[in-house]
Amino acid sequence: MYKTLKEVTKTAEELNMTIGAFNTHNLEMLPEMIRGAKEEGSPIIIQTSIDTAKYIGYKVMVAVVKEIATDEMVDVALHLDHARDFDEIKAAIDAGYSSVMYDGSHLPFKENIVKTKAVVEYAHAHGVSVEGELGTIGGTEEGISVSEEDKVYTRPEDAVEFVKETKVDALAIAIGTNHGQFKSKTEVNIPLLKEIHRVVSIPLVIHGGTGVKEEDYSELINNGIRKFNVGTELLVNWTKEAKDTFGNTEINKSLRHNVIPANMKVKEIVKHKIRLFMNLDSPLKK
Ligand code: 13P
Repeated sequence: MYKTLKEVTKTAEELNMTIGAFNTHNLEMLPEMIRGAKEEGSPIIIQTSIDTAKYIGYKVMVAVVKEIATDEMVDVALHLDHARDFDEIKAAIDAGYSSVMYDGSHLPFKENIVKTKAVVEYAHAHGVSVEGELGTIGGTEEGISVSEEDKVYTRPEDAVEFVKETKVDALAIAIGTNHGQFKSKTEVNIPLLKEIHRVVSIPLVIHGGTGVKEEDYSELINNGIRKFNVGTELLVNWTKEAKDTFGNTEINKSLRHNVIPANMKVKEIVKHKIRLFMNLDSPLKK
């Protein structure tokens, strides 16, 4: 079934698990990502950047995700990741995306509230969920670099006000993660997460999931992380596989032979992550 972010994170809350939000970069890897979720018995969030949405076409993206979700009988939300442009957000909502992120984390606090609120009003009027962001996540967001020195962690008191004022459905927080970190792992600030979780009751979101240690997943989930973004790990592995196959192929051989191994690699990673996201070994599992 085609679902909203609000619906799938509600399930995650009930089961004390998190929902994997995986970035796709093309239509090739998409079906196997959704089938991976189906095989593990979990909902999934498929997310695209604005650039990927435009490359594929907003409406095409919606049609394909809806069709696979129905066909495979798995709960899928389609989410626009890190959008800062209201027109693009509107384009995604009008085309049928079930969730959007307005990323006003670079703005002064009050301005972030005002702009996020406007997105929430439009989105909610169309039955679409909204994720907001407070604090800055390191690495690169949509080509915009955030250096270590410029990183600002989410302040719990800001989170309370932001959620109350904007009525967002989920909140991305900055607790030490970085986008695009695939060569090393980061130290997440668990005490800060616990404090935010204590004062904010909506689902919390981890960005830069590739750089998070797998041994930290359970603690993150037990403290309210209900959407867990993973992008770079899929991208890097798809590209590695595709380089091997394309590098060795005969030029008149069907493209399927070059692309299927890359798609299957992505599926394997999605399944592995989802198994951990289900939090089955945690004593706090519901
Ligand atoms: P990674 O690419 O670092 O896994 O982060 C994904 C993400 O947070 C997308 O917003």
